[in-house]
Amino acid sequence: MNTQIMKLPQAGAAAYEQAADILKKGGLVAFPTETVYGLGGNALDPEASKRIYAAKGRPSDNPLIVHVADVEAVELLAEEVSERAKRLMEAFWPGPLTVILKAGPVVPRETTGGLSTVALRMPDHPVALELIRAAGLPIAAPSANTSGRPSPTRAEHVAEDLDGRIDMILDGGDVGIGVESTIVDLTGEAPVILRPGYITRSMLEAVLGEVMIDPAIVRINEGQLMKSDEPPKAPGMKYRHYAPKAPLTLVQGTDAAVVEKLKDLAADARAQGLRVGVICSDEAQLEPYADVVYHVGNRASRLELAQNIYDILRRCDADRLDVIYADDFGLEHDTELGYAVQNRLMKAAGGRIIREDGDHAG
Ligand code: TXA
Ligand code: MG
Repeated sequence: MNTQIMKLPQAGAAAYEQAADILKKGGLVAFPTETVYGLGGNALDPEASKRIYAAKGRPSDNPLIVHVADVEAVELLAEEVSERAKRLMEAFWPGPLTVILKAGPVVPRETTGGLSTVALRMPDHPVALELIRAAGLPIAAPSANTSGRPSPTRAEHVAEDLDGRIDMILDGGDVGIGVESTIVDLTGEAPVILRPGYITRSMLEAVLGEVMIDPAIVRINEGQLMKSDEPPKAPGMKYRHYAPKAPLTLVQGTDAAVVEKLKDLAADARAQGLRVGVICSDEAQLEPYADVVYHVGNRASRLELAQNIYDILRRCDADRLDVIYADDFGLEHDTELGYAVQNRLMKAAGGRIIREDGDHAG
């Protein structure tokens, strides 16, 4: 299959018409959202959902998020729209928040991975919204990466994974946030965060009152990997995610202690003949110690960290490293956007963490 790449805004209205046409015929179009690029198909067409799973190489029990361009569409897709759901949509849509509700009968089980619930979100990106409106359909869209690879934050990442496997890529430039939407399950007694993102627990609690965080996420952020015998609430949580090919170890501790430890680790690994990558802040000067140094941004800027992390994890693969060491950027104490980044970094590290207390005499 030939994948057409349309650059926006240059390609103009014709790009949306063509893309909408593809979606109406059951084809696949990747498009930017404010979080990451999505791989879109008609959410109401079971065949389109199957194609999404096939293109990504994704297990078909891992449900897709359905993207809408207005709140009215939710009435059609959900069996019932609770007061809580309405308040969240009012407060955060369009925006990086996905709500889980009981699915209405129009939503095929192929889209929900066999579940009776459906994930819904209205993205805050002009290209995404225009595409949904042009198609006149709800769009099922997982992140537009091959299953198991970091989510794409620019059109080139999508092409890297999916060129030749989908009909079209709408290139809307780099995304603004860089980590996927916050997912909140509203089908139970209390609202539960199933995936941390830009919309944080405190932002949700300001609207809803108490919000829980799924215990599996809490454990991941504390550095304990998920127990394999436990059924995950968001099926996506059980799959290996975001892990670069080379083993990545996270180093936690005070700024100065972490930088010193990164130097030691990198130098030791190099002495063993390994090709070493280090992920650190712009401030850290680690070039003399590693083969490749990835500067993620200012140590205090959580948004820069979020925007760059997936791109860097992808570059780690392209740079053919043997081993990777990463600063934890003090994220272990962060309850806001940093909490979401920590979640992704911990998964990338797969449990490899070193705690550096910084009390060594030097
Ligand atoms: O920011 C985002 O949400 C991006 C952009 C493209 O919108 N999309 C995205 O989709 O990250 P995906 O498929 O990569 O991740 C969706 C996650 C998966 O972990 C999936 O298991 C979970 O949402 N999910 C979807 N439907 C669900 C449901 N009914 N119940 C629980 N979890 C669900
Ligand atoms: Mg994904």
